[in-house]
Amino acid sequence: MGQLQNKTALVTGGTSGIGLATAKRFAAEGAHVFITGRRQAELDAAVAAIGENATGVRGDVSDLDDLDRAFAAVAAHGHGLDVLFVNAGGGKLATLDQLTPEAFDETFGTNVRGTVFTVQKALPLLNDGASVVITGSTAASKGTPAFGVYAATKAALRSFTRTWAAELAGRNIRVNAIAPGPTETPGLSGLAPDPAQPQGLFDMLAGNTALGRLGKPEEIANAVLFLTSDQGSFVTGTEMFVDGGEAQV
Ligand SMILES: NC(=O)c1ccc[n+]([C@@H]2O[C@H](COP(=O)([O-])OP(=O)(O)OC[C@H]3O[C@@H](n4cnc5c(N)ncnc54)[C@H](OP(=O)(O)O)[C@@H]3O)[C@@H](O)[C@H]2O)c1
Repeated sequence: MGQLQNKTALVTGGTSGIGLATAKRFAAEGAHVFITGRRQAELDAAVAAIGENATGVRGDVSDLDDLDRAFAAVAAHGHGLDVLFVNAGGGKLATLDQLTPEAFDETFGTNVRGTVFTVQKALPLLNDGASVVITGSTAASKGTPAFGVYAATKAALRSFTRTWAAELAGRNIRVNAIAPGPTETPGLSGLAPDPAQPQGLFDMLAGNTALGRLGKPEEIANAVLFLTSDQGSFVTGTEMFVDGGEAQV
């Protein structure tokens, strides 16, 4: 028996990096996994990589109509939702003097607005005992030049996690955040000045961790599985750091 046998899960941003690794793990543990992302080709490839227990629904989490389509697909599956991994997100680097209103709105639109309305629209589908995990970041706990808006979005998510854990406890629904440290994903490579040559950025970020290396997406997936499975049954409202000690040591 897998740890999520016969469960239904939704992973936003499930086509790449942390989301894809976690969706694969959920499916391997017996869940039927719905994944979302904006790019159709990446969505199709991810569904094929996960296998027969995966359904892809293309969409942008900052678009409320797209969210409605995703949840309509989950509802049509007929089993409600046991696991919600609200993971779609990202951001661009800009110091305060470089910041544009457009970049501010885009990052808050995806990371904060997208997360808030994903969880809101999931409410009618969440089963008794469901688990919600939100992807935060160590960035929220640090002051890193050029990470200001991104870090603020993740700090907002940490705050929402506390509130929603309180609001949903009466339905026996747990809500937690994970805070990955630097994790080797296409999204992290995209922050390098030349995304095809990310090693300099990777080396710099690895040096900020106590373990002296980047995380693997599968290591973040392990922590998400803990929070979503029965192993994490007494854990709610917390922020779990999976960061090689970056923000702790
Ligand atoms: N990698 C790290 O070091 C790190 C550290 C801390 C936190 N995180 C967080 O972890 C999460 C995943 O990051 P990652 O590194 O795995 O990035 P990634 O490889 O770029 O994957 C991001 C995923 O989110 C989707 N996505 C992005 N914007 C979206 C939107 N508006 N609507 C729907 N889907 C969207 C992407 O697909 P499309 O582009 O096709 O939409 C993709 O599936 C993010 O929330 C990120 O902030 C990452």
